[in-house]
Amino acid sequence: MNQTIAREDLASLLRWYVDQGIDEAIGEEAIDRFAAPPPQAASPPIQPMPAAPTPIRSAPNRPTPAAAPAPLRGPVPIESPQLVEDARALAQRCNSVEELEAAVRAFDGCALKRTAKNTVFADGVVGSPVMIVGEAPGADEDRLGKPFVGVSGQLMDRMFEAIGMSRERDLYITNILFWRPPGNRTPTLAEQAICMAFTRRHIELAKPKVLVLAGGTAAKSVLDTAEGIMRLRGKWTSLSLDDGTAVPALPTFHPAYLLRTPASKRQSWSDLLSLDKKLRELGIR
Ligand code: URA
Repeated sequence: MNQTIAREDLASLLRWYVDQGIDEAIGEEAIDRFAAPPPQAASPPIQPMPAAPTPIRSAPNRPTPAAAPAPLRGPVPIESPQLVEDARALAQRCNSVEELEAAVRAFDGCALKRTAKNTVFADGVVGSPVMIVGEAPGADEDRLGKPFVGVSGQLMDRMFEAIGMSRERDLYITNILFWRPPGNRTPTLAEQAICMAFTRRHIELAKPKVLVLAGGTAAKSVLDTAEGIMRLRGKWTSLSLDDGTAVPALPTFHPAYLLRTPASKRQSWSDLLSLDKKLRELGIR
């Protein structure tokens, strides 16, 4: 094979990796997974599951949301249900967003923290009427320690500016995960469940009038549903919180999806108009 062509191929393969968000080497040596021995079916699990798996959240006294999407995802197969319980107990002890932020920063129970450069907690104005919940920090967010500051965040800013809202004035922004998953991989259900304990308390303490759920992963995780974003988007639902309050929630496409699929911006524009209408109905605008 011609050496020049091979080098170009390599460069284009690297570019493709970066485009997919794979921009970090996890190890010095590549792992040959074909050479690895097959998993031992009979080996005992490191942490046995309890007989009755712990649900992601305890909701004994919580009213069912008026228009909650179904079906629920059911108990998550978490390796360490205790970590979720620990996170929940810690979050419940926090009585302000500032306390919660300190608790999240000090929390070492989510493995993602080990590979992340920064804890990405929130940006914008605490107490804003609109709280946006996205998925996870990417490379830019991890570097700068703020959510939605990369290209997709810039698109999100422009979209909200189109209805006269900005993160400096009227928006509070967070993610369901506080640490970047390596290579931007989809967060595991266990990672989501651990962080969700904090995110639910975050919503209770920030007290937004409405929630905007950006993308399928955030919408499914916050609403605890198996329904996909294509069905969820544009439909208002109600999120019941553990303190007995409920907040209207609007799932919408993730801005990164809009960058890949510009034709879907029409639907996102309609979601933004629906948000504007809801805020007016609530007397906020
Ligand atoms: N995508 C997200 O979901 N959140 C961010 O903060 C950045 C990109």
